[in-house]
Amino acid sequence: MTQAEYIAANKDRFLNELLELLRIPSVSARTEHTKDTLECANHVAQKLREAQANKVEVFTTEGHPIVYAEKIVDETYPTILVYGHYDVQPPDPIELWASPPFEPVIRDGKIYARGACDDKGQMYMHIKAFETMMQTNTLACNVKFMIEGEEEVGSRNLGKFVALHKDLLKADVILISDTSMISMDTPSIDVGLRGLAYMEVEVVGPNRDLHSGVYGGAVANPATILAKMMAALHDEKNHITIPGFYDDVMVLTETERKDLNTAPFSQVDYNTDLGIDMAWGEEGYTTIERTGIRPTLEVNGMWSGYIGEGAKTVLPAKANAKISMRLVPNQNSDIIAKKFEAYFLKLAPPYVKVSVHAHHGGEPYLTPTDSIPYKAAAKAIEATFGIAPIPTRGGGSIPIIALFEKELGLKSMLMGFGLHSDNLHSPNEKFDLFNFYKGIETIPYFYQYFAEMHTRK
Ligand code: BES
Ligand code: MN
Ligand code: MN
Repeated sequence: MTQAEYIAANKDRFLNELLELLRIPSVSARTEHTKDTLECANHVAQKLREAQANKVEVFTTEGHPIVYAEKIVDETYPTILVYGHYDVQPPDPIELWASPPFEPVIRDGKIYARGACDDKGQMYMHIKAFETMMQTNTLACNVKFMIEGEEEVGSRNLGKFVALHKDLLKADVILISDTSMISMDTPSIDVGLRGLAYMEVEVVGPNRDLHSGVYGGAVANPATILAKMMAALHDEKNHITIPGFYDDVMVLTETERKDLNTAPFSQVDYNTDLGIDMAWGEEGYTTIERTGIRPTLEVNGMWSGYIGEGAKTVLPAKANAKISMRLVPNQNSDIIAKKFEAYFLKLAPPYVKVSVHAHHGGEPYLTPTDSIPYKAAAKAIEATFGIAPIPTRGGGSIPIIALFEKELGLKSMLMGFGLHSDNLHSPNEKFDLFNFYKGIETIPYFYQYFAEMHTRK
């Protein structure tokens, strides 16, 4: 049986298995789902066993478990380390879902569920591609799987795991499907991802909430102060004002920028899709550049005072915000976090107390297009899409891959099959059945071409 025949013969089962996986609410951010993440890890392990992987093990960590499995067919073959994550983002706001987030349904050829694309659907393509290669006797590389449950909360325990298991994880390349393509007609490969520095700030005023009539106007309102401080983080050209913020930013040549902007993109469609009248961003850059090669600063959440039903006249005692900065090569998350902290504290007026706390961070990443993994991935995509992919820069982050390079000395190849319109982290997340099967079909070609190119090297 050929790979294509095997996939066709098992199409429905592959899908049903994915739906089963999507029914497990493995939300890593919520402690009430600790049992579900464990169940999900065990489920993934079981599926790897059924696909004939060896040494399948669920490693417990201080957080959510990590699933490991491998198949060493021949010591002389190159080894691919597949990384993915089984944890998902919280589904909120739940009322905006057309169908419940953990009861997957198929509408217009698309699977709707939290995690459908990010990353259960994409991770599962690898297990089914592996099964296909095993069953058709075509596994051209050794393979190791490392599927974690804390990607969406900063991969806190994966770094330790990697440092402790360097031998176990020995490989020639890391293969990841956790990014998006421009469209199925214009396949693309993210050759860059941004880094991340995530901060939380608190502005404290009086020692208790106050009557806004009795005290208002005479005591600084922390909510007003916080709003002013946050507004000061961008100037009128939407540049970030933190001193030295852009010091290490890699500047692209005019040709590189031109190439990047040849990717098909319609600002009008973009605006329509998002329901906005106008785009916004750093002056002098296109939307593609603003999300791909430039660093940014976003408020992820702010809270203060009374936000319940009706009105309450109160001068809040404090105001808080969560702020993230996306970083590009060669910025460093620790340096940026320190610069942010110093500047934010400097912005604080004397009538409030301000504190800054740094959450998880991660470094930006670049895959060279002249590398063997890129060439193998591009050739694999060309084989199944009939057209060569274009290199793009992803705006999101997978912070752990910079650490893989540091600890294991391995490059990561991002071969994603999602679409930007798949509503990652949003209500009504989806994954096209077409993309799911296309991924399963394409992955074995990567193994084949990587093996050929690697031995010829
Ligand atoms: N799969 C995404 C990252 C991604 C999506 C990269 C689309 C490129 C295109 C990943 O699961 C994710 O959401 N990462 C987080 C970082 C993490 C530290 C919470 C992110 O980018 O916000
Ligand atoms: Mn992901
Ligand atoms: Mn995600």
